Amino acid sequence: MEQVNTKGGPVRFLVFSVSQRKDSFNTKLADLAVGVIQKYGGIVDLAHMKDFDAPSFNQDLEVDNFHPKGAEEFRRRLLANDAFIVVSPEYNGSMPGLIKNSIDWVSRFRPQPFNELHGLLMSASPSMAGGNRGLWSLRIPLEHLGARIFPDMFSLAMAHQAFNPDGQIANTVLAKRFDENIAAFMSLVEAAKNYPCMKKAWVEFLGEKPDPVTDRVE
Ligand code: FNR
Repeated sequence: MEQVNTKGGPVRFLVFSVSQRKDSFNTKLADLAVGVIQKYGGIVDLAHMKDFDAPSFNQDLEVDNFHPKGAEEFRRRLLANDAFIVVSPEYNGSMPGLIKNSIDWVSRFRPQPFNELHGLLMSASPSMAGGNRGLWSLRIPLEHLGARIFPDMFSLAMAHQAFNPDGQIANTVLAKRFDENIAAFMSLVEAAKNYPCMKKAWVEFLGEKPDPVTDRVE
C-alpha cells in the first residue's frame, strides 16, 4: 500500500509512549510508528507523558470543576486528533499506574473525550510476551470509556535485542507486521472519519438513570 486514502483530508493521530525512561524501548517503538503513519500520509501529533502530568487522582480535588493542567492537555490533544496510538510498557502484568491515572482524570470531562475515538495499542518489553498483558489491561478502561480499540495489537518481544543499529525492527517479518498493523488501523480511522455510519451512546454504568449522586451518564 502506497498511501491510506485521505480523500476527506488527512487523518490526524496522537501518538505517545507511556514510558518516561531515557532509553525506553516503547518510545523507540512510538518513534517508528510516527514514521509509518507519515509514510502513509497521516499527520502525527507526538506527545510525551510529561505533557499530561497530573497529581494522583483524588475526587476531593474536583472542587469548582477542577481538572489538572495535564488532564486538560490530554483532553485537548485527544480532541484535536482523529485517533490515538498508545505505546506502553507492561508493569507487573498490567498497565503502568501513570497511564491509568491520566485516563481517570480525563474520564471526568463532559463530553467524555475517549468516547467514539479510535485507538491502537502497542508495547515493547525485554520479555518473551512483549508486554502484551499490559495492553489487555489497558484495553479495559479505554473500551469502558467508549473508545474503539483496534482488535490487532502489536507487542515487541525481547525488545532489548529487537532493534537494529538504525533503530528499525531487525526481524523483517515483525517489521512488516508492525507496518501492516498501523496501515490497517489508519484505513479504519480514515473510513470512520470520512464515511461515518454508526453512532453510539456512551453510558458508563448501564441501567443507571441520570441522578445527581451517580452523575455518570452522558
Ligand atoms: C517491569 N518490566 C516488566 N516487563 C514485562 O514484560 N512484564 C512485567 O510485568 C514487567 N513488570 C515490570 C514492573 C516494573 C515496576 C518495571 C520498572 C519494569 C520490565 C519492563 O518491560 C522493562 O523495564 C522495559 O524496558 C520498560 O519499558 P521501557 O521503559 O523500556 O519503554
